[in-house]
Amino acid sequence: MRTAISCLTIATCLAFSCSSPKSTGSKMDAKVDSLLSVMTLDEKLGQLNLPSAGDFTTGQAESSDIGKKIEKGLVGGLFNIKTVAKIKAAQKLAVEKSRLKIPLLFGMDVIHGYESVFPIPLGLSCSWDMKLIERSARIAAQEASADGINWTFSPMVDVSRDPRWGRVSEGNGEDPFLGSQIAKAMIKGYQGDDLSANNTIMSCVKHYALYGASEAGRDYNTTDMSRVRMYNEYFPPYKAAVDAGVESVMASFNEIDGIPATANKWLLTDVLRNQWGFKGFVVSDYTGISEMINHGIGDYQTVSAKALEAGTDMDMVSEGLLNTLGQSLKEGKITEQQINAACRRILVAKYKLGLFDDPYKYCDEQRAKTEVYTTANRAEARSTAAQSFVLLKNNNVLPIKRTGTIALVGPLADAKENMTGTWSVAARFSESISVLEGLTKATNGKAKVLYAKGANLDENATLENNSTLFGKSLHRDSRTAEQLRDEALRIARQSDVIVAAVGEAAEMSGEAASRTYIELPDTQRDLILAMMSTGKPVVLVLFTGRPLALKWEDENVPAILNVWFGGSEAGDAIADVLFGDVNPSGKLSMTFPQNVGQVPIYYAHKNTGRPLSGQWFQKFQSNYLDVSNEPLYPFGYGLSYTSFSYGDVKLSSPTMSSSDSITVSVDVTNKGSREGKEVVQLYVRDLVGFVTRPVKELKGFEKVLLKAGETKTVTFSIKVNDLSFYKYDLSYGAEPGKFKVFVGGNSRDVKEAEFELK
Ligand code: BGC
Repeated sequence: MRTAISCLTIATCLAFSCSSPKSTGSKMDAKVDSLLSVMTLDEKLGQLNLPSAGDFTTGQAESSDIGKKIEKGLVGGLFNIKTVAKIKAAQKLAVEKSRLKIPLLFGMDVIHGYESVFPIPLGLSCSWDMKLIERSARIAAQEASADGINWTFSPMVDVSRDPRWGRVSEGNGEDPFLGSQIAKAMIKGYQGDDLSANNTIMSCVKHYALYGASEAGRDYNTTDMSRVRMYNEYFPPYKAAVDAGVESVMASFNEIDGIPATANKWLLTDVLRNQWGFKGFVVSDYTGISEMINHGIGDYQTVSAKALEAGTDMDMVSEGLLNTLGQSLKEGKITEQQINAACRRILVAKYKLGLFDDPYKYCDEQRAKTEVYTTANRAEARSTAAQSFVLLKNNNVLPIKRTGTIALVGPLADAKENMTGTWSVAARFSESISVLEGLTKATNGKAKVLYAKGANLDENATLENNSTLFGKSLHRDSRTAEQLRDEALRIARQSDVIVAAVGEAAEMSGEAASRTYIELPDTQRDLILAMMSTGKPVVLVLFTGRPLALKWEDENVPAILNVWFGGSEAGDAIADVLFGDVNPSGKLSMTFPQNVGQVPIYYAHKNTGRPLSGQWFQKFQSNYLDVSNEPLYPFGYGLSYTSFSYGDVKLSSPTMSSSDSITVSVDVTNKGSREGKEVVQLYVRDLVGFVTRPVKELKGFEKVLLKAGETKTVTFSIKVNDLSFYKYDLSYGAEPGKFKVFVGGNSRDVKEAEFELK
């Protein structure tokens, strides 16, 4: 593409200053045009190239000798590189040694905090607190940017209804509405109001699209679904991210309609750019381009050309765009315009980050020393963790007292390296607070804390090994299961209460960590049984990155506190909740099944022509012979140390037109004797549609703080957009007719009212 500016010399182009009086947009265009006009084909392809710097790996990097490539202008950005010193050194190569001195992007999976680690995203989503979530991303951006990073591969917003899929830990659960709110909050937290500030970073929403619907919950697997379902149930969080101004999008590994997302033009261009108006750039996932050879849509050159044509701008690790697009151009398979368009988008992102003004703006050693892992950030991580915990059951055991003797058992009790959970690449594992440390500090000599491991993660050592990768060892004990249990029994018998820290290891969820068996490993259940046999009260502190099937535990153990992976300060946060300094208020963002056979299970299901009403089991109705349709714990569920009651649902009018709104109000009362937070949830059901509608859909929520005995009136406004959906022809709108409104503290226990849309 030749423009009027294309005659600028390289010198003029490089000297072009951002202090020009023109508006930012035109200044940016001028800068990018001037660069494009002098770039060689190889330099343009270099901008599309994103090799891994190799500090951490999630696959096989094909790149080598990265430094030389940077000098030749053959690298657009690096990821998996940490510390200002290393980043500065790499940036120096780009801006001092390469011909055009174009600065590099530095990416990292800053997923739930940087060195101050927050709860895994699934846990964070259970806070239902958008300000809290935004703040966690703000702090992550602050720390990462102080340490040289300017781009994070977050948020992950893949809706998923299959707890077998390990990556549910990285997302926000099953609901498109909640997921959309969280997508917006995260992007605001990372990008702030000014992407060019040195403490904000570029966000990358992923994995576009439908990655969470992989068949059988197996990672990287095929997805296949109707467009009506995509648009209504799986697309909304990605679209919300685009609406919130996300600057980059990562294509997913899976195929859609038989075409891998990375080469899917309908997805990346028709929907993302043309329908949603996305203006940023698309990066492939890790070797997402070369993996399309295995998918079976062509050789290295072909898949690379297909990726570019579809709308993928940057190639993570495959180097297919760098190595083959020149040949494809010669053969007329792609155009230079397509290359220019991709290159332009990358340059625009660099411009928006302010890298052309100051390529070292994120490389301030002083900031790295003073703004990372600060006392204040760790305190915020601690209180955030406590907000993410979900109290699943409590038969008057919790909170426990700081007196007497507490037995702490379980493979997760003294497991620092596991506290941060999956995707915590910048964490300082050895400094995380374990449950043992948290309880010891919190009791401060007032109660005696006795510890015994009690069980390994699993009797299968290979499974334990594969679940504790990346330095997250659980320090497997070589004693037999019986010896470990006996030791735990000895301390349990001397105690007043038993806290059992059990569940999954950090890498038992996350990428490539799918499971077909989602119950607690037998050896851990045996430990719980042994603890129960003492007759002492037992509290499960449950670590997990996914909904587990806990029917047995629910039936047998008096108290279960689900703590996910709470981050670097998890142990302190757990103590805060166990001793009642913090009242738990988390609510599930994903349904817990009774057993794995119910999966996929989610509250916003359709009704079928033969819904079960009344008693289970009924022949020729939609149900199972061996288990009811009910989940163990429904979406939105979570207990508190106090309890709440709901008054009747009041509507401002029995009818509404498409131009006005209805106000829904309900009185919520704290019936207990201590202050607590309740997430008041609003669901809607469209009773008749041209296409069938879910039995309930979340359309609003508010987290309210109520003093003991206090009543607050919570109001929601329903507008026509809340009643709209994508129809069979993918047109969007609401249909007149009757709607039910439900309000409650979870998706199952609700009060209802009805209105009509005229
Ligand atoms: C994951 C992405 C991640 C990327 C870079 C991939 O394997 O799927 O979520 O951002 O690696 O580390």
